[in-house]
Amino acid sequence: MTTPRSERQIRFMLLEMGTVSHNNYGLWRHPENNRHRFSDIDFWIEQAKTLERGMLDALFFADTLAVSAGFGGSTTVALREGMHVPILDPLVVIPAMAAVTKHLGFAATSSTTYEPPFSFARRMSSLDLLTKGRVGWNIVTSYLPGAAANFGIEPMAHDKRYDRAEEYSDVVYKLWESSWEEDAFRLDRGAPMVSDPSKVHPIAHEGEYFKVMGPHLVSPTPQRTPTLFQAGSSDRGREFAARHAEGIFIGGYTEDILLSHVTDIRRIAALAGRDHDEVRLFAECNIICATTDKEAEAKLADFMKLASADGYLAHRFGSGMDLTRYGLHEKIEDIIATGGPGADHMARYPFPAGWTVGDIIEDAARLDRKRLFVCGGPSRCADAIERWSDSFDLDGFLMRQFLSPGTARDFADFVVPELQRRGRYRTQYEGTTLRENLFGRGHKRLAQSHPGAAYRRAMAQPVLAE
Ligand SMILES: Cc1cc2nc3c(=O)[nH]c(=O)nc-3n(C[C@H](O)[C@H](O)[C@H](O)COP(=O)(O)O)c2cc1C
Repeated sequence: MTTPRSERQIRFMLLEMGTVSHNNYGLWRHPENNRHRFSDIDFWIEQAKTLERGMLDALFFADTLAVSAGFGGSTTVALREGMHVPILDPLVVIPAMAAVTKHLGFAATSSTTYEPPFSFARRMSSLDLLTKGRVGWNIVTSYLPGAAANFGIEPMAHDKRYDRAEEYSDVVYKLWESSWEEDAFRLDRGAPMVSDPSKVHPIAHEGEYFKVMGPHLVSPTPQRTPTLFQAGSSDRGREFAARHAEGIFIGGYTEDILLSHVTDIRRIAALAGRDHDEVRLFAECNIICATTDKEAEAKLADFMKLASADGYLAHRFGSGMDLTRYGLHEKIEDIIATGGPGADHMARYPFPAGWTVGDIIEDAARLDRKRLFVCGGPSRCADAIERWSDSFDLDGFLMRQFLSPGTARDFADFVVPELQRRGRYRTQYEGTTLRENLFGRGHKRLAQSHPGAAYRRAMAQPVLAE
């Protein structure tokens, strides 16, 4: 049965990237911002401890495989702004954070277009063992054209990337779910036997894109398949997300677009046989909190002095649409219709009707005009969060950072206690794995209705509830 919206626990993840600037460009210069420490392992250890204190579901790691070339095909802006470059490999940072936490999950982005599935599946299983079941995978197909050049392959058309992602998912599900029977890894000194050869199986996958024999190199892990996330926003991307993801990130320029995406994703997921409570929907949000409304507003004014529209525009249009070629008054829909570079990419994502280049630039530069933005004391912030969750049918939020660790610390100190007082936020973690953070105690493995669960062997007992 579906929990009434007003009684739902609201979930939070922190949006991170192993780099200087991910969102809210320009703020890295703020004297209290620690983004310059992104390559210091102690920075990550401190972040993880703060997030676990605030009982967030997970730290979410975005990633990219090329330097974004947003302005006329040049990487100058990205490099100058520190926009996703230099950047660390997210999977490498996770063990240090896992060592100082017990419950916090770690969801990392990896691309089905460029990472071979066999080695990726092994790396994720290794992490799932080492973190005791706290890893997640954000499945991306990588939209930056530059990534293909870095991997020495021809750029792949959008929908073809999703075809490949479908097959890639099948391959890794087979490795994670079916290659090793539940009791195959025995470490039986008496027998003597490390693993039972009759219970470890090749997957012998042969498809259009992949040929993988197996068996998987890692024995069964607490979650087997890591908790799955996706953020596709095209028609094809939403369809993929609704079928495969357990946590879906919903985008959209305006609240109306956001709501239409939520409704659509819920509809497609239901058609795919997935229950409302088997798919958690998250939207990005922006929270500036302090002890009082006035103090928070002073912080916003301070941040606004440093905000850079260039970084945001290079990020948003890294797929090739170059806004600097157009006048401020030109409408986005006209630019898309004339079909310049990157226009086919932009055409997949709805813009508010009538928006011009000038509107986008102004939107980029104004921190307080972001969708799902609140600035205030604990009560104002909690009011907004409850409203967003209830009116848009969202399960939770992916919080962007203004300052690191300031945003996460203020959230833990001011927002969490207020949401807890209102009965809308956990007061302790429900279980020990990331999937349990999202779905409750006992939900350690994929739900039965998930396509990956079809690969389970009959003799393996699904662990669904304790
Ligand atoms: C919250 C959020 C996080 C995302 N993180 C990444 C990321 O880390 N790396 C990446 O290549 N794409 C990322 N994306 C882009 C999506 O995976 C997707 O490519 C984009 O929304 C376009 O949708 P489409 O793939 O359906 O065309 C993210 C999108 C959102 C909304």
